[in-house]
Amino acid sequence: MLTQTTLPKQVKIVEVGPRDGLQNEKENVPAEVKIELINRLSSAGFRNIEAASFVSPKWVPQMATSAEVMAGIERRAGVIYSALTPNMQGFDAALAAGAGEVVIFGSASEAFSQKNINCSIAESVARFEGVAKAARDHGLRLRGSISCAFGCPYQGEVPLDTVADVVARMRDLGCDEIDIADTIGVATPRKTQLVMQRASQEFAIGGLSGHFHDTYGQALANIYASLEVGIAIFHSSVTGLGGCPYAKGATGNVATEDVLYMMAGLGIDTGIDLDIVVDAGQFISQFLGRKGASRAGNAIAAKRAG
Ligand code: HMG
Ligand code: MG
Repeated sequence: MLTQTTLPKQVKIVEVGPRDGLQNEKENVPAEVKIELINRLSSAGFRNIEAASFVSPKWVPQMATSAEVMAGIERRAGVIYSALTPNMQGFDAALAAGAGEVVIFGSASEAFSQKNINCSIAESVARFEGVAKAARDHGLRLRGSISCAFGCPYQGEVPLDTVADVVARMRDLGCDEIDIADTIGVATPRKTQLVMQRASQEFAIGGLSGHFHDTYGQALANIYASLEVGIAIFHSSVTGLGGCPYAKGATGNVATEDVLYMMAGLGIDTGIDLDIVVDAGQFISQFLGRKGASRAGNAIAAKRAG
C-alpha cells in the first residue's frame, strides 16, 4: 500500500558554491569572477549565500580574497551573505567585511576535527565560545556546521550519539541554525533519516539543515529522505562545484540546479529562479573550462541550444 508523507511546502536553499565549491579549486579564481558569480546567484532569489571564508590562507589559499569579494558584491536587500569563521581572527575579518551570518564549523569526528581545524572537538567548541558571544554582541546570525555527521574519511563510522552531542554543544553556543553535513557523501536515505531524527532531539527541526556532498550519488535521495522527516533547509552548490580540501576524493555539494528541479517537481516553493541559476552555472563552468556537474543544468542548457 502506498503511504502518503507530508513534505514541507517551502524550503530554504542556501547556495554554498562560492565558498564550499570554489575553496577546492586548484586554479586561482580571481575575486572579480567570484563577485560576478555571487551577483548572478543573488539575482536568482537565494535568501542566503555562503560567500566567504576567513580562515588561514596557508590552509585554504583559494579563500584568501574573501575580504575583497565581500567588498565587491552588490548587496541585495533580504539576502544574508555568510562567512566561515573558525576563531576570533576570522570573526573580526567577517565583521569588518559586513557578513550577515558567521559560521563556526566543527566535526562529529575527532580525527577530522584535527585534520580540518587542527584541534579536538572540545577545543573547537571552546574556541567557538568567543565567536558565538561576539556574534550575539554584534547582532549577527550564528550558524554551526557539523562535518562528518554520516561518516569520516579517517575514522569511518561516526556514532549517532556523538553527532547528537555536537548538535547539543552547538545549540548551547546559541546557534540559530545547525548544519548536519555529509562531508564525504557517504550517507544513504535511511541513515540520513536516523541521523536527522536523532539531531532533532537536541535542536528544533526547523533550524536543522542538510548539507550533502554527492560523492556516491546519494545526495538527492538523501534530501528527499530528509524532507520526509521534516527538514526544510538544504545546502547546494551551483553546478555541483566543490569538494573538501581535507577529505580526499570527496566531490562537490549536490548541484543546486538538480535540487531546484526536484523541488519544482514536488511542488515545493524555493523562491529561486532555476533559469538564472543555470546561467550562473554556465558562467562559472566556462571560466573553469569544464562542463558543470549538474545533470539538470546540463539538460536545460542542451535544450536551450536546440
Ligand atoms: P592553526 O595553525 O592551528 O592556528 O590553524 P593558529 O592560531 O596557530 O595560527 C596559525 C597561523 O594561521 C597564524 O599565522 C595565524 O595568524 C593564522 P602565522 O603567524 O603562521 O603567519 N590564522 C589565520 N589567518 C587568517 N584567518 C584566520 C586565521 N586563524 C589563524 N581566521 C585554523 C587553525 C582553524 C585557522 C586553520 O586550521 C584553518 O584555517 N583551517 C582551515 C579549515 C577550512 O577552511 N576547511 C575547509 C572549510 S570546512 C568545510 O568545508 C566543511 C563544510 O563545508 C561542511 C562539510 O561539508 O563538512 C563547512
Ligand atoms: Mg561541505
